[in-house]
Amino acid sequence: MTEAPALDPTRPREQWGSRLGVILAVAGSAVGLGNFLRFPGNAAANGGGAFMIPYFAALIFLGIPICWAEWTMGKYGGQFGFNSCPAIFGVLGRRSIWRYLGVFGLLIPVVVYMYYVLIESWCVGYAVSYALDWIDLGADPALHAEKSVDYFNEFVGANQDGLMLNGRPHISVIVWLLVFALNFYYVYRGLSKGVEKFCTWAMPVMAVCAIIVLVRVLTLGTPDPSKPELSVMNGLGFMWNPKPMSADGGTWMTVLAEPKVWMAAAGQIFFSLSVGFGVIINYASYLKRKDDVVLSGLTASATNEFFEVCLGGLITIPAAFVFMGIAGAAKTGTFDLGFKTLPIVFEHMPGGRFFGCTWFFMLFLAAITSSLSMLQPVIAFLEEALGIGRRGSVALLGLITGMGSLFFIFFSKDLRALNFVDDTVGGITIVVLAAIQTILFGWVFGADRGIRFAHEGAQMRLPFFFKFMIKYVTLLYLLIMLGWWAWNDLGRYIDMVRADNAIALSVGLVVVVIVFLLLMIHIGGKRWQAETRDARRG
Ligand code: ALA
Repeated sequence: MTEAPALDPTRPREQWGSRLGVILAVAGSAVGLGNFLRFPGNAAANGGGAFMIPYFAALIFLGIPICWAEWTMGKYGGQFGFNSCPAIFGVLGRRSIWRYLGVFGLLIPVVVYMYYVLIESWCVGYAVSYALDWIDLGADPALHAEKSVDYFNEFVGANQDGLMLNGRPHISVIVWLLVFALNFYYVYRGLSKGVEKFCTWAMPVMAVCAIIVLVRVLTLGTPDPSKPELSVMNGLGFMWNPKPMSADGGTWMTVLAEPKVWMAAAGQIFFSLSVGFGVIINYASYLKRKDDVVLSGLTASATNEFFEVCLGGLITIPAAFVFMGIAGAAKTGTFDLGFKTLPIVFEHMPGGRFFGCTWFFMLFLAAITSSLSMLQPVIAFLEEALGIGRRGSVALLGLITGMGSLFFIFFSKDLRALNFVDDTVGGITIVVLAAIQTILFGWVFGADRGIRFAHEGAQMRLPFFFKFMIKYVTLLYLLIMLGWWAWNDLGRYIDMVRADNAIALSVGLVVVVIVFLLLMIHIGGKRWQAETRDARRG
């Protein structure tokens, strides 16, 4: 078979140290704030148990098939010596348009990193606050909710734009700087010595911390005997039963009739698996031709689902439910449940200070293994496009993401900019990239070729229906959902941009990043084409 050439021996290449290392790094990328904050927040806001129907549909019909396609495309591009999404898309699609479409595989990690690292630093801030006993919600339980919200708003500057950068640096800005620097330290060390090594110890520690908190939550029973309905069992029921147990009284049918619920579920699956994110395609490009992608992809996805559904879903929502009921568990934005609601839960819980500290430290570990994976694809891209070394690419990316992060720190009022960009770039754009990848793999590169290449060195075969699934089912699912969503909800987003300056400016930020990346792709493109030609001839 002549499909993938021998590696270009002149290009210095990074490689994974071991098979377990790569699986832990991909699982580390997948398991993150998406699992512990975004998933329960999304589930609670979109009908609780009813949300699980589109969620599992998206996992089976979208997440896993595209995950396999992405691992395969990444490994294929890596055999040409490429590690960035645009260069790999160019090799697979053989036309320059594909290179430019690869911009989404950079836009998503770079923009998501800008706000993700900020939330990561809040986790550190909260872990330290618990360790030093700074979070005091007072003796009156009636005021706990108000005080928790006040603490959060104060900590993140949600009361007013510009608060965090006004006068003396706020403590959370200092924590952000430290966390930001730590991320760049690890990517600077390189793939195997930095990212892989860190994930190899961070993942097990994170699992232990999560299990400690889970055991505590599941043994809460019925903390208030005067409210027997507020039990852990009913909390689990709220999470899992697709019954009309929603706060606004809607039934599961009304929940499922909304395109935004399906879009939220698909976006959640992609965000959480780091699929359609530009990350897996990059990580897989460091594999050797005879490395397995099928079992590894499935193992990393299964690990992610264990953390998301079994740990993320079983901790946050039941805990909120037993102390606050359905309204408390459902009244939430993406991050509210984690930072505003859980501190109230810890306040009521025996040993709450210890469990609070463990929870937020665990969130930090989950977040950093993911944020590292967002930097690596862009570092590889800058090196590939500009021909610069690690030091130059790390410095340039540090500058870009640092400025972006400061944007979100400045426009902190009610976290409007952050929430909007998370919803659009961290939600809708991911679905768009997933659709592009499905067309590229299934129709342009060719599903048959892709399957043959995936099977080289594979430790299990792809299921017999994979080809039909990726070519028709997955693609149609994505296109119908995108069309349905655009028809129903696009207008709402346009109105939001018109009505709010911070949101309009965040759109401006995204556009500037896109233009910059397209320019870089243009610069690198000519050289990549020549290199690909040589490699194919060679
Ligand atoms: N996959 C990462 C998460 O879930 C981005 O947080």
